[in-house]
Amino acid sequence: MRAGRLITLEGGEGAGKSTLLQGLRAHLETYGIEPVLTREPGGTPLGEVVRTLVLDPAHADICAEAELLLMFAARAQLVRTCLQPQLKAGHWVICDRFTDASYAYQGAGRGQPFERIATLEHWATQDLQPDLTFLLDLPVEQGQARIVGRGPSDRIEREPLVFFAEVRAAYRARAAAFPERFCVLDASLPSEQVLAAASAEIDRRWRDWQ
Ligand SMILES: Nc1ncnc2c1ncn2[C@@H]1O[C@H](COP(=O)(O)OP(=O)(O)OP(=O)(O)O)[C@@H](O)[C@H]1O
Ligand SMILES: [Mg+2]
Repeated sequence: MRAGRLITLEGGEGAGKSTLLQGLRAHLETYGIEPVLTREPGGTPLGEVVRTLVLDPAHADICAEAELLLMFAARAQLVRTCLQPQLKAGHWVICDRFTDASYAYQGAGRGQPFERIATLEHWATQDLQPDLTFLLDLPVEQGQARIVGRGPSDRIEREPLVFFAEVRAAYRARAAAFPERFCVLDASLPSEQVLAAASAEIDRRWRDWQ
């Protein structure tokens, strides 16, 4: 049986993750692969409840520690009930955000120590690492401009620009620290060009993955 692969999409608000997810699904279908599509927080019944909770502006007082643990509670459930079984069965999975997002948002954004996040990663995800992570890198203001008019902003979208600048910097630092796993995409390009660059990266890795 061919091995399953885990591809994750990371980046700030409005960077184009959901758009790329659909494009990559179509690209993988040209290889005869129908990927499982999922997201964080979410992707499981429990995870979707956690998502509603952490994004609800009514819970403005959720402390940083609780937010971190909620994200990892959802992630533990996703890993055990979706990612591990799907990958073991040889399926490909594309996940809209994964553990890198906790380093960026709860770590750099909320000030939770990276060592604490690493401990949780080891425990909650059994150190599951993506085979490939696309970082959609975009100036914060451009991302925000893309999502205005999409309705009321959620609890995290309400953070000030400086929060998202920290998130972006942390994502870029992770990409630099793990250059084999990350592919950084210039998300300011038109979406067709972003998809073309991401597809080319998959094509480049395809032979090694067989
Ligand atoms: N490369 C692009 N250039 C211009 N607009 C784009 C591009 N990619 C996506 N968009 C548009 O920007 C908006 C946000 O895109 P999308 O929903 O894919 O981002 P996202 O990263 O999933 O956002 P969120 O973090 O809120 O989930 C959408 O209206 C989408 O059509
Ligand atoms: Mg999205």
